[in-house]
Amino acid sequence: MKILILGGTGGLGSDCRNVLGREHEVICPGKEDVDVVSWDVVIEAFDSLSPDIVLNCVGFTNLEACEADAFTVRKINVEGPRNLAQSSARFGCKIVHVSCGHVFDGRKGMPQPYFEDDAPNPLSAYGRSKLESETAVRGNSPNYIIVRSNWLYGIHGNNPIKSLLRHAVLGGSTPMRLPNDRFGAPTWSHRLALQVRELLNKDGRGSYHATSSGYCSPFELAQHVLKKLKLDAPIEPCSLKDLSIGHLLPVNCVLENRLSKKQGVNVMVDWEKDLDTFLEQFGDQLIEEARP
Ligand SMILES: NC(=O)c1ccc[n+]([C@@H]2O[C@H](COP(=O)([O-])OP(=O)(O)OC[C@H]3O[C@@H](n4cnc5c(N)ncnc54)[C@H](OP(=O)(O)O)[C@@H]3O)[C@@H](O)[C@H]2O)c1
Repeated sequence: MKILILGGTGGLGSDCRNVLGREHEVICPGKEDVDVVSWDVVIEAFDSLSPDIVLNCVGFTNLEACEADAFTVRKINVEGPRNLAQSSARFGCKIVHVSCGHVFDGRKGMPQPYFEDDAPNPLSAYGRSKLESETAVRGNSPNYIIVRSNWLYGIHGNNPIKSLLRHAVLGGSTPMRLPNDRFGAPTWSHRLALQVRELLNKDGRGSYHATSSGYCSPFELAQHVLKKLKLDAPIEPCSLKDLSIGHLLPVNCVLENRLSKKQGVNVMVDWEKDLDTFLEQFGDQLIEEARP
């Protein structure tokens, strides 16, 4: 199959490009070649490339920037997916769109997870844009997969593990404060790429949750990373309400992969297992890259 990946230079997109490229013909234009915000550019890309599948890994993901810039967040996170969904429908191709757990308010009592059909109620401009993106995809393409994930990390792009390691190698004495009253499943973007591949190979359709199993707090995640890499860095637990963006963050970010489990296509594993594999594979490289 010919797969057009948009956002292929980002954290998730890079892993999708590697994983899907092993079995499929993958085309991965940069933003400068295919800006998803432009309808003319998108339709021209579909016309000239004739993909069987389009995978949308594009995103404007910085929470504070999204609050501050309603215009850009709407363009990239809503109009982009709409352009892709309408083009997919017009050219008879399947669209895979990546969304996230910020569509929920996170007020469900722990340890109850969120299911695919739970009522969304986003707390932030980012979450609202992702919810709107889902509506745009569902409403415009008859053949879609929406994959909601959370707390992604990987070797490409930026993520909280890389921020922690930068803090660790700087060796300062000021503690990094991390919430210990917010919970989710850290999810390796490589694993999510494998899940996307599985859904494509099994002709999945509809809206899927796809995160690692289990959960921890950001503070526990940091403890786990430092211990595994045998690093010593000052970190301190705090409450979500101590953070300036705490009100924008769902407390309960735990998603249950109910649909993929029901269909026998869930390939996600326990968060600690994947994180350990990731750190064993990339720990030295990550520490090296974290040095100023
Ligand atoms: N990170 C997470 O924890 C997380 C969790 C759940 C879901 N998601 C979703 O997963 C998707 C990918 O996230 P990510 O963390 O991999 O993001 P990322 O690393 O920030 O990558 C975003 C990608 O989008 C590209 N892009 C931005 N604007 C574009 C435009 N107008 N046209 C074409 N490409 C454009 C970027 O290109 P440049 O690099 O050239 O700007 C980059 O390749 C997003 O939809 C996000 O909402 C992320």
